[in-house]
This record gives sequence, C-alpha cells and structure tokens, in this order.
Amino acid sequence: MTATTTGGPARRGLLASAAGAAGAFALAGWSASDGSPRGAPPRPQDADPATSVRPFRGEHQGGIADRPQTYAAFAALDLRPDVDRDAVRRLFTVLTDDIERLMTGAAPVTDQEPELAAVTAGLTVTVGVGPALVARAGATVPAWLAPLPAFSIDRIEERWSGGDLLLQLCAESPTTLAHAQRRLLTAIEPLCTLRWVQRGFREPFEGEHHPMRNLMGQVDGTVQPEVAGRDAGLLWCGDEGPAWLVGGSALVLRRIRMTLDTWDRVDRLSRENAIGRRLDTGAPVTAPAGATATAIADLNAKDSLGFHVIDDGAHLRRAHAMAPHERFLRRPYSYDDAPTEGSLSDSGLLFAAFMADPVRQFVPVQQRLADKDLLNLWTTPVGSAVFAILPGARDGELLGERLFA
Ligand code: HEM
Repeated sequence: MTATTTGGPARRGLLASAAGAAGAFALAGWSASDGSPRGAPPRPQDADPATSVRPFRGEHQGGIADRPQTYAAFAALDLRPDVDRDAVRRLFTVLTDDIERLMTGAAPVTDQEPELAAVTAGLTVTVGVGPALVARAGATVPAWLAPLPAFSIDRIEERWSGGDLLLQLCAESPTTLAHAQRRLLTAIEPLCTLRWVQRGFREPFEGEHHPMRNLMGQVDGTVQPEVAGRDAGLLWCGDEGPAWLVGGSALVLRRIRMTLDTWDRVDRLSRENAIGRRLDTGAPVTAPAGATATAIADLNAKDSLGFHVIDDGAHLRRAHAMAPHERFLRRPYSYDDAPTEGSLSDSGLLFAAFMADPVRQFVPVQQRLADKDLLNLWTTPVGSAVFAILPGARDGELLGERLFA
C-alpha cells in the first residue's frame, strides 16, 4: 500500500525530525485507511453499544468521572533521550489527532484496519504525564507529581512502576482496546519507548443487580465522593496548582497482587470481618438484614462483649476518611494474568484512583492501610505510579497544549 491521505505526509514530517534511528518504523504504516478529514466532528451518540461514542473534547478528559467501561489497559512510556520541548509538542499533536479519531470511529491516518476502529465501543483514551515530561516541556511540576513514599507493605517492582507518559484506554470491547493501544503505541514509537502495559477488566454485566466485584468476591467501589457535585474539588485540579493543569486531575495506579491461594482457605465470616462488609450484598456488617451496599457503616457499633462490630483492622475502618479531604475517586480494574511459578494464579487489582492532590488526599489513607489492615494478609502492592492527568482538549486545542503556554 502506498496511498496517503489528508494529513499523512504532514504527520510523517511531524515525527520524522525526532524519530532518529526509529524513523524507519513509519515506512510500513503511512497508508490510507479512511478519507475523513483531520478533526472531523464526532459521530452522534449511538444506542448500539458497539458504536457508542464518548465525547473527546471538553473541560475534562473522559475515562475519569464517567462510568467505567468493562476493559482497560494502562500503558506507560518513557520519552526517548533526544526528545526536546518541540518534540513533546509534536507528540501531543499526534496523540490528539489519533485519539480523537479512535474515539469517534474514524481510523488514524496510519490505520490499515479501519473496520476495527469503526467499533468504538465507548472507547476513552486518557492521557497522563510524569514529572520528566513536564520538565522537558518546560512547565512547572506540581509538588505531588513524584513517586509515592515507600510503605512497609510494598514489594514494588520496577516493571509495573513509574513512567513519563500514561495512556489509560477503556472500552466495552477488548478488540477495540487492543486495536487502539496498538495504533497509539505505534504512532508515538519514534518519540517514546514502552515501559509497561497493565490490562484489567470489570464485570461486563455491571448494574443494579451485578455490582463491581473484585476477584476476592467483594463488592468494590461503593463509597465514593460526589465528584459530579459538591466534591468536584476533590477530583479536578484548580487554581492552587500550575495553570496548565486546571481541569486536569491526578492518577494513582497501584498494582495490588492478591494471594488467592491462601484467601481460598479463609471462611466466610473472617472474609466479611476483614472488610467490614457482607459478601452477598456488600452492606456494612453493622447494617440490618436486607440492607444494601449503600447503607451507612456504623463505626462505633459494639457487640455484647464491647468489641467494635467493624473490626479495628477491617479495611472499611482503616480506609475510611479521617478528614473530608482524605477522599478520592476509585476506578479499579481486576487483573488475572497467567499464573506465575508455584501459584495457581497471578491476580489482583489495578487500583486506579483519581484526585486533585495525591499527597494530601491519598497518602494518609495508604499510610493507615500500611500500618494496619486485615486485607494486608492477602494483598501486596507490587506496582506504583503517579501521573498528572491532562485537562480535556477544548475545541481547536491540543491535549497538553497549556504545558507550552
Ligand atoms: C487489593 C486491594 C484492595 C481491595 C481488595 C479493596 C477492597 C475494598 C472493598 C471491598 C471496599 C468496600 C466497598 C467500597 O466502599 O468500595 C473498599 C473500600 C475502600 N477502599 Fe479498598 N481495597 C483495596 C485497596 C485499597 C487501597 C490501596 C486504598 C487506598 C489507599 C483503598 C481505599 C478504600 C477506600 C477509601 C474505601 C472506602 C472506605 C469507606 O467506607 O469510607 N483500598 N475497598
């Protein structure tokens, strides 16, 4: 295939100057895939989930406050050493163009599988940046944009941690996800090297009768701030930080391994005690029979012997906010990879949480859990990363454009 489309040669030029030796990759890929113009308006919202479209443009990026899709991939990349400020800008030009196309069903200019791109499946691609990228763009790095402190429970592995650039891809179709991931990684390969990819899933039948359950069987993600209303300030960065980040957020991604082989041997009562919630409904153990997951937990309730009904080491008690600012939006995904030697599973939680300031909001909670949490008997953090999530691209704007203001 040798044909080019609108934007093809321009795109080639954009990347070529920073591509260096890696530039050869482009030769195979610059063929026509569809004729739609650059920046074509999004297709209207479609009732068919296969072609449903979530908005790309707006004050905030998608994939944060919107309903979590069933499948997710988190890909972290590092900038190549020769990438300078101009090249970072070119990176965002390419990303903005390709992400907008993929989210709206118009294949990127390099895409030879437009049929895969046409199945948008509610795709969102959310872009985050690490401190090194912000510094290379010449912008102010917020104080919280750094690795989390080491906690006593951590067994962090480099292969799941850190990164200069994050792409969080979420969709209702694993094929859509894989395709979008491949296209984006290929497009930015001249400027970045891949550091890690972590894939996760949620319950496809999620809804009123099928809540999100993690692989320990617990109803997960119940207590959340009201980020669409009074708690919006907990999620979105405001004037307190650098101007380029207003309308953005922060992502803390913790890869937490579950030792399901030993969890299997725990009886139901002890399992409920470890969380402080019932396994069937997800209701707090203090709630009356028939209560639902949203019932308020009574942390002061005591049994006839004077012990707290919600154990002093229960996850619910330990994770519960001790101050109004110690809250964040949890958007977790399970992972279940090929078992490692000596175990029947390699499973756990991609604990993804969004907030305005991880040091202020997240670290005190994680510290309490590290000090004491019954769940620690079966869970181990093995990966950790913090990214600044860019504000949304408004009409005519590039993602990350305000980094260069
Ligand atoms: C594999 C690890 C983890 C598992 C299996 C897990 C599971 C759960 C479950 C089942 C609940 C109760 C339902 C709900 O409100 O969502 C919960 C609550 C919560 N978890 Fe976790 N969690 C894990 C790690 C973490 C971490 C690392 C943090 C933060 C540092 C955290 C923070 C919270 C918070 C803030 C709540 C709500 C507490 C409240 O009731 O106010 N969790 N978690």
